[in-house]
Amino acid sequence: MPDPRALASMLALVLAMPAAAEGIDAEKQHELEHLVLQDCGSCHGLTRKGGLGSPLTREALEGMDRQVIAEIILDGMPGTAMPPWRPLMTEEEAYWIADYLLETEE
Ligand code: HEC
Repeated sequence: MPDPRALASMLALVLAMPAAAEGIDAEKQHELEHLVLQDCGSCHGLTRKGGLGSPLTREALEGMDRQVIAEIILDGMPGTAMPPWRPLMTEEEAYWIADYLLETEE
């Protein structure tokens, strides 16, 4: 008879797996939207229309590749005030933000 606690933790792992595969859940999306508003907004404007940083509106980013945007978010832009966010977020989250910027009205 295997240790019931080992079985329980295995079961917990299996149950947690579908959620992990889905990646960014609703709660995380909410956090990222908040980050865009508060943190990115402090430089790019609360309505993303620009400030210290250039506008991040859908129109301003139109034609830019989501990968390029995600890389800028992750690594920053050397020589500008755009900081690298890699220490603070996963690549998946940076891609989510890139899509969010490209797809949503500010
Ligand atoms: C400390 C100020 C600051 C913060 C915070 C900041 N940025 Fe920037 N960002 C800049 C500056 C400055 C530039 C480069 C010059 C420019 O494009 O105006 C830039 C450039 C960019 C660019 C390239 C824009 C283009 O048209 O080439 C993107 C995309 C971008 N930032 C996204 C973000 C996102 C997303 C966040 C939040 C996760 C963020 N930035 C947070 C200052 C900031």
